[in-house]
Amino acid sequence: MKRSLKHQFYRNGVISMTVKHDHTTHPFLINNEWLESKTGETVPIHSPDNGVQVGQVPAMSREEVNQAVNLAADVQENWAATEVHERSDLLHRWADELDQVADKIGAMIQKEVGKTFASAKSEVKRTAQLIRHTAEEGLRTHGSFIQGDAFPGASRSTKAMVQKVPHGVILAISPFNYPVNLAASKIAPALVTGNTVVFKPATQGAVSGLMMIDALVKAGLPKGVLNVVTGRGSVIGDYVVTHPKLDMITFTGGTATGQHIAKKASMIPVVLELGGKDPAIVLEDADLKKAAKEIVSGAFSYSGQRCTAIKRVMVTEQAADELVEKIREHVAALSVGYSTEEVDIIPMIDQKSADYVTGLIEDAVKKGATIVHEGQNDQNLLSPVVLDHVTEDMEIAWEEQFGPVLPIMRVANELEAVDLEKRNAYGLQASIFTKDMEKAFTLAERMNVGTVQINGKTSRGPDHFPFLGVKNSGQGVQGIGRSIDSMLRDKVIVLNL
Ligand code: NAP
Ligand code: G3H
Repeated sequence: MKRSLKHQFYRNGVISMTVKHDHTTHPFLINNEWLESKTGETVPIHSPDNGVQVGQVPAMSREEVNQAVNLAADVQENWAATEVHERSDLLHRWADELDQVADKIGAMIQKEVGKTFASAKSEVKRTAQLIRHTAEEGLRTHGSFIQGDAFPGASRSTKAMVQKVPHGVILAISPFNYPVNLAASKIAPALVTGNTVVFKPATQGAVSGLMMIDALVKAGLPKGVLNVVTGRGSVIGDYVVTHPKLDMITFTGGTATGQHIAKKASMIPVVLELGGKDPAIVLEDADLKKAAKEIVSGAFSYSGQRCTAIKRVMVTEQAADELVEKIREHVAALSVGYSTEEVDIIPMIDQKSADYVTGLIEDAVKKGATIVHEGQNDQNLLSPVVLDHVTEDMEIAWEEQFGPVLPIMRVANELEAVDLEKRNAYGLQASIFTKDMEKAFTLAERMNVGTVQINGKTSRGPDHFPFLGVKNSGQGVQGIGRSIDSMLRDKVIVLNL
């Protein structure tokens, strides 16, 4: 495993002279003013690379959260009255601003969540594209016109104008793993449709989120239209989620948190994008070279910390040995290190998550799984692991690992794979690898997931495709067009001539 001397210093508990803790407090935004909490309390953010503090955000009081939501509610009617092309123009300017500061925000994403710089910068660039597309799509939303005479007893002189109107104030809560992209994918559709926003970033990733909002302010955000709430979700979450002036919540994050929020929120729409246990089902007639490449890329990018990561392989016995060997070769070629080294496998977000993954591996090995590939671990930096002969009694067969380990389950045939998939608590995506298209479509139809990928890894993009999870993976649909739809409701005006 490649490790620089600099990192070894940190990891042995000695702080190097070259990198120091950064205690800068990054203020939150209310009414276009950058503020620090009157409580003076802050939440530190530590780099997953070396544990060094990279900044801190204010732990806002209830009173301050209240102010953020109330302001968003006060200005919402005016914002909705703004012409849609003006709201769309704001998003275009925001995207341009983001492009200008992609390096700066990329560097902060790298520090906060440990992505390599290339991957962090590409997140910002992808976000600018997503915002532009949303700005365009927002111009094309429209209602409908219905005549009454299709229903017995009603006449043509009764006409309904069905308008699309914003919900009001939307709370957008984002996760750590895409601190910019998964925040903007909520904020942009909310703004273009005339909603105002209260944005609660993940604490780890909050500074990157605040920098993204700074770009929005520079682009001309009107006062109060978006306000930010910072502080630990476990502390301030229930208060903000149950605020009576919220009209909708859109959340991406873990299943337990999402379910908790759904229970707390009452009588308002809640869109949830949650965890996954996406399988790659590989049949004996598949192009195994391609399947192995896609599986390894799908399972291990950002060390598996993606909701759409391939989190288990189900391969038919006839193809298993060859596929496992091909996967092993790809995994052995992955570089392991720290985000500053532009490697494939980087440290997990924190020690607790790394310990969880290690526990799943230990449980599987104890119950008979064989290790096909492993490496040396160093605290939260886990080398990629491939486990073969994983069986149903092992926790890793069902639990979301969210880390760099790939369990392989051998099945007799595709029906067994579909059965395994259906008994799973999650339902985000699934991949099927086969050359038999008829079989692929038959299996795809039977699978209870949001999206089935044929001969490709599981993944969210392109960002205008609908993106959804069923069962414990979510409720509602995202993806640019569908996110816009979810942030509008019908308003019917009936004309009686
Ligand atoms: P998380 O722990 O659930 O946190 C997500 C967000 O919720 C953070 O902003 C967090 O704030 C906030 N939060 C925590 N407790 C809350 C509460 N009681 N009320 C309101 N907000 C609360 O998830 P994560 O660790 O950031 O992300 C990893 C998980 O997200 C994985 O399970 C992954 O599969 C899932 N994910 C799903 C998708 C998808 O599209 N399906 C995308 C990305 C990630 P703090 O940071 O302050 O705690
Ligand atoms: O982590 C969840 C994200 O929605 C995954 O997005 O498939 O583009 O990496 P991605």
